[in-house]
Amino acid sequence: MLKGKTIVLGITGSIAAYKAVDVASQLTQSGAKVDVIMTEAATKFIAPLTFQTITGRPVVTNMFTLSSESEVEHISLATADIITIAPATANTIAKLASGIADDMLCATVLASKSPILIAPAMNVNMFENSITQDNLSRLKSRGFTIVGPVSGRLASGKKGLGRFANATDIIGSICQVLGDNGDLDGKHIVVTAGGTQEPIDPVRCITNRSSGKMGYALAEAARDRGAMVTLVTAPTSLTKPIGMEIVNICTAREMYQAVRVATSQTDVLIMAAAVADYCPLRELDEKIKRESTGLTLEMERTPDILVSIKGDFIKVGFAAESNNLVENARQKLQQKDIDLIVANDITSSDSGFCADDNRVTIIDREDRIDNFPLLPKREVADKILDRVAILLATKSKQQL
Ligand code: CTP
Repeated sequence: MLKGKTIVLGITGSIAAYKAVDVASQLTQSGAKVDVIMTEAATKFIAPLTFQTITGRPVVTNMFTLSSESEVEHISLATADIITIAPATANTIAKLASGIADDMLCATVLASKSPILIAPAMNVNMFENSITQDNLSRLKSRGFTIVGPVSGRLASGKKGLGRFANATDIIGSICQVLGDNGDLDGKHIVVTAGGTQEPIDPVRCITNRSSGKMGYALAEAARDRGAMVTLVTAPTSLTKPIGMEIVNICTAREMYQAVRVATSQTDVLIMAAAVADYCPLRELDEKIKRESTGLTLEMERTPDILVSIKGDFIKVGFAAESNNLVENARQKLQQKDIDLIVANDITSSDSGFCADDNRVTIIDREDRIDNFPLLPKREVADKILDRVAILLATKSKQQL
């Protein structure tokens, strides 16, 4: 997604400037070309050399530097794919809202037609001041995207709203803005993720080894291709992605209810979650005490979400198999009456449940079988969404 993108990263004079090093580093590691512009105040908090070292590119601090093409810098940088100001102080926000271009960063923004994203960071009173709020509203109404701030401990020692958003959220927002006109623009996609938890008593539950990584990768990839995403997630240790609706659930029944609500108006349902097929018949109010004898739990079936939720949307299922991969997956596709099934072999240790990579086979209703090599889950997600995009395009042609 970020590979080959040109990103201007504007740093202003906030104590959070040091956190922008992580943003610059992650963007650079993802293959983006990052040009940092620092205001004079920012250089009091952190040295330009830090960003130069991290990005491998010169850092602009002076309004009158000439680029190698002998263009005035703010004109050459203004053509970036996106300009991100992180952290953005109340002062820079006020200048941008009033069209003042007395430093290199504001001049670049004013000269640019690129999307602009800002991540404010400041004292809580400054942030809540109606002047700052008015300035932010003006920027929003002009199409700027604002990420954060979040609540937490501020440099003053006080707690409140004003803390710099975390690097993952800033980068997630950059990806979302860059993908605004992607091939899934305007589509609503519901993704489920993680392993459901079926309670036995107040401290115990039945669950499985799903990490949720495949579902989260799908949700982020769909977001970055312009889709509106609802992620229905069982508990996982993953960071909740920004830029989508998140519905937290625990049990298979709760997932069923959440998916039913979310699919009332959707174009696609992707069931990447590992849903428990059985749950204890009763959840006990008291913790089960250890006895000398064994323990038998009475279980009942949970609803099959893919089968029971019907509607005019594309359905994608997963088939986690330990044997007869293609045959079992094909049977699930037919039995569950779905459009695509993504089969993966859970016996291989380098792919599947907890791994970062996955090796999948995608089968459709026409029995077209696509085998993919071991790929990072994010790349697998894009392969699946490529197929979903084709199905959506075919469907809208048929509806014409
Ligand atoms: N699924 C579902 N509701 C369930 C169980 C599974 O919607 N109660 C979905 C899963 O999210 C997945 C697909 O059905 O997309 C296949 O899940 P899987 O566990 O591989 O298969 P099952 O249908 O549960 O069959 P089995 O466990 O016997 O292989």
